Amino acid sequence: MLLDEAASHAGGLKRVLRAFDLTLLGVGAIVGAGIFVLTGVAAAKYAGPAVTLSFVVAGFACAMAALCYAEFAAMIPIAGSAYSYSYATMGELVGWIIGWDLVLEYAVGAAAVAVGWSGYLTVILNGMGIHLPDALTHAPEHGALMRMDLPALLIVLLISAVLYVGISESARVNSVIVMVKLFAIAGVILVGVFYVRPANWSPFVPYGWSGVMRGAAVIFFAYIGFDAVSTAAEEVVDPNRDLPIGILASLFICTTLYIAVAAVLTGMVPALHIDLKAPLASAFVLRGLNAVAGIVSLGAVAGLTSVLLVLLLGQSRIFFAISRDGLLPPIFSRIHPRYRTPYWPTTLTGVVVGVTAALLPIQEIAELANIGTLFAFVLVCLGLWILRHVDPARPRPFRTPMVPAVPILGMISCGFLVLSLPLVTWIRFFVWMAIGMVIYFAYGRHHSHVEAAARAELRSAASRG
Ligand code: ALA
Repeated sequence: MLLDEAASHAGGLKRVLRAFDLTLLGVGAIVGAGIFVLTGVAAAKYAGPAVTLSFVVAGFACAMAALCYAEFAAMIPIAGSAYSYSYATMGELVGWIIGWDLVLEYAVGAAAVAVGWSGYLTVILNGMGIHLPDALTHAPEHGALMRMDLPALLIVLLISAVLYVGISESARVNSVIVMVKLFAIAGVILVGVFYVRPANWSPFVPYGWSGVMRGAAVIFFAYIGFDAVSTAAEEVVDPNRDLPIGILASLFICTTLYIAVAAVLTGMVPALHIDLKAPLASAFVLRGLNAVAGIVSLGAVAGLTSVLLVLLLGQSRIFFAISRDGLLPPIFSRIHPRYRTPYWPTTLTGVVVGVTAALLPIQEIAELANIGTLFAFVLVCLGLWILRHVDPARPRPFRTPMVPAVPILGMISCGFLVLSLPLVTWIRFFVWMAIGMVIYFAYGRHHSHVEAAARAELRSAASRG
């Protein structure tokens, strides 16, 4: 997709969304397994009560990247997110790298959310007296190999089936789910605060600053999804004003809620005793507040379902866009004759994500999603900076403030988070990207529809600059 072609796509859709709707959309896409599950993991294993600071660190990195996203989103207001931005600005190879990398954000991220969903479903079932055996609710780990997370697999397959027949999530359904989810989060804060024992907050930084950074690299997952706001750019009334407000406001609201939830959780339960599967609900069970735990779990299950839907939908549409550009086989962009959905990528994504969710622990999955997303953020920051140089005259409905300070800070802070991830995550990331390179050079390069035209566009952009 070329820059001019991309820009000319704008205008087909109805411009109805304003900053408030975008903020709601953002919060709907963002709040999920990160806050409901990984806060507990990060506090118990790495940061202790200072997981609140981890949220500040990760939130800062996201805010810098978000400001860069906003300039691209307003300038290239088409769906497709970072794949389209980088393709349009940095050419086909970088576009492919980002597109392949986004599979980690969307598909692998979806697997992590499914595992979180399963954890909260288990709490609800336990409350109803139904106890599933561990072998059916846990990934194989620590020598217990004959296990799988069956609810995680089933929810992914169910949502994929919904996407296959093409039920689109309406804005109204989304708002209801967002409200339910926020109600659960508000419940945790407003009820939990009365059960806080300040003694649990000390020592505040039990494992030093490296623990805070390590925690930030885990809970970064909680912020994934704000870029969903930018993908609605074509439907925004005044993208220049509304997009940055929508992106930054949803980030700000989430950061505030996250810090409050993290403070309450670590105040209610000593860090080492935090449950790793459904920490927010379990904190209330520990205090005998089973009804509150039930409400929180219902909110979590509803909220995680909508995040899962957004991520799985996003993944199949990214495969669709890449295939339409010729970089993946045409079957990925084939439309179902009856349901009008890209059924092939939907099915493939569902099966692979479901199996991943069934077999891997949430933290390992989330860290892989994080490294992929952070890498995309770094490239988006870099792309913004480069484009300001090679094509300064292009109309920018929204200009990122303080360039190059903001993109540089974005690259540095995201880079720090990447450095705080474990070696095994790096290795998985490089293996994934290497597979991507093989596919590109064996297939995409020879089948690309627009490579020649893209080169011409970049050449003329460079000469204009
Ligand atoms: N930010 C989303 C979550 O926490 C992906 O589940």
